[in-house]
Amino acid sequence: MRAVDLIQKKRDGGVLTAKELTFLVDGYCDGGIPDYQMSAWAMAVLFRGMTPQETASLTLAMANSGDQVDLAPIAGIKVDKHSTGGVGDKTTLIIAPLVASVGVPVAKMSGRGLGHTGGTIDKLESIAGFQTELSREKFLEQVNEIGLSVIGQSGNLAPADKKLYALRDVTATVESIPLIASSVMSKKIAAGADAIVLDVKTGSGAFMKTVEDSEKLAQAMVEIGTQVGRQTAAVISDMDQPLGFAIGNALEVREAIETLRGRGPADLTELCLTLGAHMVVLGGHAENVAEAKELLRQQLNNGQALEKFKQFIAAQGGDATVAEDVTLLPQAAEQVEVKALAAGFVSAIDAEQLGIAAMLLGAGRATKEALIDYSVGIMIGKKVGDPVSEGETLVVLHTKAQDIAVEEVAAKIQSAYSITAEKPAERPLLLSVVT
Ligand code: URA
Repeated sequence: MRAVDLIQKKRDGGVLTAKELTFLVDGYCDGGIPDYQMSAWAMAVLFRGMTPQETASLTLAMANSGDQVDLAPIAGIKVDKHSTGGVGDKTTLIIAPLVASVGVPVAKMSGRGLGHTGGTIDKLESIAGFQTELSREKFLEQVNEIGLSVIGQSGNLAPADKKLYALRDVTATVESIPLIASSVMSKKIAAGADAIVLDVKTGSGAFMKTVEDSEKLAQAMVEIGTQVGRQTAAVISDMDQPLGFAIGNALEVREAIETLRGRGPADLTELCLTLGAHMVVLGGHAENVAEAKELLRQQLNNGQALEKFKQFIAAQGGDATVAEDVTLLPQAAEQVEVKALAAGFVSAIDAEQLGIAAMLLGAGRATKEALIDYSVGIMIGKKVGDPVSEGETLVVLHTKAQDIAVEEVAAKIQSAYSITAEKPAERPLLLSVVT
């Protein structure tokens, strides 16, 4: 088999077999196929697309390129959850203990943040003592004991995807739905869960800017799941503004704790209940989504979800008293208000720009090696639809003393807010479900 023939076949609209796709993936991983051939193939895919069968074969080839996590020692149906990335998205911190509190085992690997989106692992590490690296034995044992563990993603999970994603990033081939779908699903499949719930974001702060594209991506991922025998459901949710009010690691943990107490922001609570309900149904703990949602709502209100969060934090060496006293979380030295430049209604908030603003304050990483400051971030005061008068506070920055970035950040936030005379039409948070 020769790579050039497979590139030509795809260029001319042909369909590659599982064997051919495995040849490309394995060859690229071991260095036999160079970057220039793989990028030519990725460009051919971008223009020609792939059939569902090809997409599933590519996914499996990438999932098989590194470690395969075996969750068989954990009893019950293991359900994973994945978000396509958002700003202020702290859903894992809430959903993992919430669904574990009704008996769905959660054995989850999460990532760190890069650029304008935060990572669950960084958020958890803002809790003093919390360990995100556990041995395989300890990870499995903890899930069997308390129903829940979240650890950092193994460096060798789907390495073919890592290499191909980096190549796509610099060859203008990221925006291919089959390539995105196989990239996401290869990591989920290698991580070992029996069923997967996907939170596909749409809007200014998301990868997919339109609902139509988000639905196509959701369909492609659900189809892969079906083809490889992992039940998959996808919820499409709005990311036209950040989720909840907090952006920044410790600030997001604080908001997650409030939500686990049943006192969280409405949008965040609703999304967590919906994603969690799909997990509970796939995990076999409820007949339907409405029943599961009600069950989870009770767990937020009766303290059981928060109790599970405390057990989880303590089991991984963290200071679980933060759940009772959020002032024990890292706190920034200064708070600076950013004011509205005009009066009217907030009609849009560019979530990506707010994510970048939080990163500039030190909450995120501009490069993989950058250190983050857990205490800093942004608390949003005005969300889409809120009335605002000139000079009123839009957000509060939590910053280091004398942070030189503050002026630049404040200007960025002011331009991320669109303020109009008319109140904008309400945009629903939950747009559709693909199963
Ligand atoms: N996220 C991924 O993991 N892969 C992509 O291709 C795009 C977003």
